Amino acid sequence: MAKILVTGGCGYIGSHTLVDLVENGYDVISVDDNSRSTSAILKGVEKITGKPIKNYKVDLCNFDDTFAIFEENRDIKGIIHFAAFKAVGESVEKPLMYFENNLTSLINLLKCVQEFKTPWFVFSSSCTVYGEPDTPVVTEESPLKPAASPYGATKQMGEQILTEFQKANNTNVILLRYFNPVGAHPSALIGELPIGKPQNLVPAITQTAIGKLPKMTVFGDDYPTRDGSNVRDYIHVSDIAHAHTLAIKYLEEEKNKSKLEIFNLGTGNGVTVLEAIKSFEKVSGVKLNYEIGPRRPGDIIAIYANNDKAKNVLGWEPKRSLDEMMATAWKWEQRLKNDEHFFSSIQSELN
Ligand code: UD1
Repeated sequence: MAKILVTGGCGYIGSHTLVDLVENGYDVISVDDNSRSTSAILKGVEKITGKPIKNYKVDLCNFDDTFAIFEENRDIKGIIHFAAFKAVGESVEKPLMYFENNLTSLINLLKCVQEFKTPWFVFSSSCTVYGEPDTPVVTEESPLKPAASPYGATKQMGEQILTEFQKANNTNVILLRYFNPVGAHPSALIGELPIGKPQNLVPAITQTAIGKLPKMTVFGDDYPTRDGSNVRDYIHVSDIAHAHTLAIKYLEEEKNKSKLEIFNLGTGNGVTVLEAIKSFEKVSGVKLNYEIGPRRPGDIIAIYANNDKAKNVLGWEPKRSLDEMMATAWKWEQRLKNDEHFFSSIQSELN
């Protein structure tokens, strides 16, 4: 089976995608500098799949080190590029760090793609490229609005770079726009490892429920939505991961009609923050300690995916319900608490 290079393979979506690719017979290698992740997560991937995973601890901003991976693996057929900084608030404080890291790494990879004529490239994009949309539901054709943060701008620029690169090269490109990936592998052997105080909703919920945080805040209940809180499209990380395997298969089978295609990856269901909390309380049996606070600057009122294209063209079908997303996220949080050995090995690598 074809060899796929997964960048950011020790990260949240990257590790789940390694599992899905291996389970579908692909040969995988990972590159991750572990600046915001730990290679301990690959032990979980190995336990689930029964296959050892090779990780190159390389910073993609270093061109020579990146090039050396391609020289050593001349048979790489596809690249799935996850590696990037992704904290929205941090990107506002340190915009240059975000532009430098997220764009230099992409450009270095593409120089290698050009040199080694790698045929398939899948890019980790985000619904953030739609900015504040005119309607809550967006299709791939919906207009792109100004990004709400430098992080969002790096995703828009990444898409632009790939669009121009594709016109001048023979590589087949797929841009996958994720909505809100949440949950964990049902085994609880891999999951999300937020660094510091979690900014995203689901880790904030589970860390509050487990007692790591005293309480959590719902950022606003005065929006024009059905209960006043923001609407998002939460999607299980394993469903997101499987879409990457389908995207690679699609390119491998030469089913793509154009050399650059875009797919939304969401369930198509808009869920409010308060509904997400209710689902968590139901599946965990824990009453969450939360308060209603002010709006968070930069938050979009409501956005969810029209996912018809991914369903019809890639044959993708998101399978896990909101309750399963919450239940697996909770199981993972409990594992982090109960498995002292695992947790301390992670802490020592992340610090
Ligand atoms: C953001 C980014 C998105 C990125 C994602 C993952 C934007 C507009 N969106 O999504 O591109 O891929 O993070 O990093 O840049 N909430 C609370 N309390 C909390 C945390 C969150 O009420 O403690 C609410 C937020 O106000 C929001 C919802 O939960 O309504 C989801 O927030 P979050 O998980 O941070 O994701 P997004 O902001 O949607």
